[in-house]
Amino acid sequence: MSLTDPVVHDIVLVGGGGAGIRAAIAAVEADPKLTVAMVSKVYPMRSHTVSAEGGAAGVVKTENDSFDLHAFDTIKGSDFISDQDAVEAFVKEAPRELLQLEHWGCPWSRDPDGRVATRTFGGMSTPRTLFAADKTGFHMLHALFQTSLKYDRIVRYDEQFVTSLIVHDGAVRGVTAIDLHSGKLLPIYGRAVIICTGGAGKVFPFTTNASIKTGDGMAMAYRAGVPLKDMEFVQYHPTGLPGTGILITEASRAEGGYLFNKEGDRFLSNYVPTKMELGPRDLLSRAIIEEMEAGRAFEGKHGQYVHLDLTHLGEKKINERLPFVRELATKYVGIDPVKQPIPIRPVVHYCMGGIDTDINGATPLRGLYAAGEVACVSINGANRLGSNSLTECLVFGAWAGKHAAQYVRQGGSDSSPAPESIARDEWARIERTYLQDHKNGERIATIRHEMQDAMEKGCGVYRNGETIQAARDKLLTLRERYGRISIDDRNRVFNTDLTAAIELDFMLDIALAMAEGALRRTESRGAHQRRDHKGRNDQQFLTHTIAHRTEDGPRLEYRPATITRWQPEERKY
Ligand code: FUM
Repeated sequence: MSLTDPVVHDIVLVGGGGAGIRAAIAAVEADPKLTVAMVSKVYPMRSHTVSAEGGAAGVVKTENDSFDLHAFDTIKGSDFISDQDAVEAFVKEAPRELLQLEHWGCPWSRDPDGRVATRTFGGMSTPRTLFAADKTGFHMLHALFQTSLKYDRIVRYDEQFVTSLIVHDGAVRGVTAIDLHSGKLLPIYGRAVIICTGGAGKVFPFTTNASIKTGDGMAMAYRAGVPLKDMEFVQYHPTGLPGTGILITEASRAEGGYLFNKEGDRFLSNYVPTKMELGPRDLLSRAIIEEMEAGRAFEGKHGQYVHLDLTHLGEKKINERLPFVRELATKYVGIDPVKQPIPIRPVVHYCMGGIDTDINGATPLRGLYAAGEVACVSINGANRLGSNSLTECLVFGAWAGKHAAQYVRQGGSDSSPAPESIARDEWARIERTYLQDHKNGERIATIRHEMQDAMEKGCGVYRNGETIQAARDKLLTLRERYGRISIDDRNRVFNTDLTAAIELDFMLDIALAMAEGALRRTESRGAHQRRDHKGRNDQQFLTHTIAHRTEDGPRLEYRPATITRWQPEERKY
């Protein structure tokens, strides 16, 4: 028997990063009686939030800032397809969440007068990004995690790999998870489920994302009939280290760093003259690619790159504001940024798209909520501004937790218990697909590499109909080949061969939704730039792409973006 006895909680939360822990705290604070199962495939402090560096945006200083300005920067950054009602709600709630985090122990960096320090991030008109040196995610996650420990009603299930949602009678009833310690399947039932599993950067070969970011939550919701929204919008961060893709934070440029090409030019004057290094990420990534194509980039063993120069900032400032950048550059490329420029190139960083939710985190499936990068509310539209994401985790994590608690208080998804056969069938599927003998089958690493390669070639910074179509065709072949995989490890304990195979299954669905969305959006907007369809087409595409999963691939519909006060205009910086 490879199923363990089920456990039952009021809310099942999948994911232990910033949005997840914030949701758990909000849920138990909203109702002193309910319990939350916090289920994560890793120990919570290993969630990807821990590696966020540069900061979290919110209007905490009002001298040169306002909610309207933060909203407008975000909407313009999104290339005008964020939902403006969601953005307005977000910017108003942001300062409260950032202050709350200070009260929970987050050591925000300070100005000499003792006020919290702020820096200007790309596409923002004023310094509104709070930070804790350049280890903001690490400190935020610590503050959240230690706060969560106060509540014994948040019950942790660490190192439990969730494989599916349990859906019955039109509502979600819980999840099935492989207990990585025993290799057995654990059904976890609840009257609501919140998904906070982060993005899917690992669909691409070169990313800042941790290897755990394989789109699990998106894929599970998608398979349960929940649409994915705006999946074609994938953000490249302009400054990653060649080879590893390790993030060199935008804070380097906020603190005064410059980008140079091999001719010694601060080339951004030709692309984003009013913002230069503090332009939005989509424009900066494109500028670097164009410099490469024009032969003005350096050539190295990991391909082309340009320089991020911090040498003029001086050792004191670098040590105080950017100590992690110094450590990363020294350890991973052998360059001390106090003395030499850092080689950088654009790298996949963030999914603007995700599970279709409303402002409260509710999805179209009864009882299912989502928040953080896994969700698309949408405040980020076609291009997210740096430092809005950590705040998004806090604001929408809290709302998802609060609203899930309210849903449970009103009865939740428990009109009839889910049949036990759902979990048994899931285990039978896993055994059949992965653990029975398939000698000489396809290698999962081969399929994964081919998928990543196809996505980079077809759906990179610049795309066109032909390249996207080629990626899509390749993904369909890979899906078919996936049916013949075999894994070598048949052990039960921490079988990472098995979990990698399931992750690949998730990623193939996500990649196809990205490619299909990109193919059908015949315009250029934000991070989605088609060389065969230059410029925005607001007549046809001031809309969200809504992808439904079918056996024949994604079925797409379009939903108008919500415009409240800011009419779309040409996006110039
Ligand atoms: O560059 C950075 O520190 C990234 C921040 C973000 O993605 O919000």
